[in-house]
Amino acid sequence: MTSVPLLTLNDGLTAPQLGLGVWQVEGEKAADIVQTALDAGYRAVDTAAMYRNEPGVGEGIRRSGVAREDVYLTTKLGNGDHGFDAAMKAFDASLERLGTDYVDLYLMHWPLPMFDNYVETWKAMVQMQKDGKARSIGVSNFEKEHLERIIGETGVVPAVNQIELHPKFQQKAMRAYHQTHDIITESWSPLGSGRLIEDPGISKIAEKHGKSVPQTIIRFLLQEGLMVIPKSATPERIRANFDVFDFTLDEADVETLRKMDSADGRNGPHPSEFDWKP
Ligand SMILES: NC(=O)c1ccc[n+]([C@@H]2O[C@H](COP(=O)([O-])OP(=O)(O)OC[C@H]3O[C@@H](n4cnc5c(N)ncnc54)[C@H](OP(=O)(O)O)[C@@H]3O)[C@@H](O)[C@H]2O)c1
Repeated sequence: MTSVPLLTLNDGLTAPQLGLGVWQVEGEKAADIVQTALDAGYRAVDTAAMYRNEPGVGEGIRRSGVAREDVYLTTKLGNGDHGFDAAMKAFDASLERLGTDYVDLYLMHWPLPMFDNYVETWKAMVQMQKDGKARSIGVSNFEKEHLERIIGETGVVPAVNQIELHPKFQQKAMRAYHQTHDIITESWSPLGSGRLIEDPGISKIAEKHGKSVPQTIIRFLLQEGLMVIPKSATPERIRANFDVFDFTLDEADVETLRKMDSADGRNGPHPSEFDWKP
């Protein structure tokens, strides 16, 4: 069985570099998809309260027969639950839906700076970690100024920042900032939400290695030292996206892929402007 490389977080714990993302996987389908992934060798799953599939994710883990402690489970605090008390309550509700008494990584899904409540929310997450129910805590979609504020006001540095990151939007400045603060960068939408599957430049590199475009992208992001969570709800693609440990991109491939970065390559909303609440 392939074992996925582990990254060491700033709290001393480790996390598998490759996992399955389950955004837009319907509640009842999530159990099948998670079970398929765990059967294929994945040991990490990324969900969120806002994906509304936590019960299915928990069910898939239980059905797979893989021990809970062998699965790296991430979920995220919903945008409607910022604030100390609301966050504490929402976290317990997530645990209940997942059917577990802890998560490996709990992330604040978006900073929502216009509501100015992310520092209080972070304080709650620090408490959750102290309580032992969130083994590691991190954030998602945080810009430099948001990170500086939570670190400045609490002294607690998030272990992870999960951000939009793919070959067309490589977030080099954020990654450099993360590195100086010992924060792991996790790539969401590694395949550009599917938009990069037909990319001719990446196809050339893929052909050279006898691999697909998604496999080439995932391999590139792994070689860049990132945590990567490609989503698929298709069993053969789930398996294919995990089959990335039998080849290595050479320096020229990596250089070509690095040059695909584009300042306007973002597909998702800008974190400083996104104000959506469920
Ligand atoms: N923190 C955040 O704000 C945030 C935001 C977005 C995403 N995320 C996380 O990141 C994960 C991944 O991002 P994402 O869901 O946006 O997109 P993605 O992983 O970049 O791409 C998923 C899309 O690519 C397709 N696909 C996957 N593997 C493929 C393959 N081997 N061949 C052809 N097509 C393939 C999938 O289709 P099928 O499913 O039909 O196979 C789906 O349409 C999410 O599931 C979620 O966990 C986090």
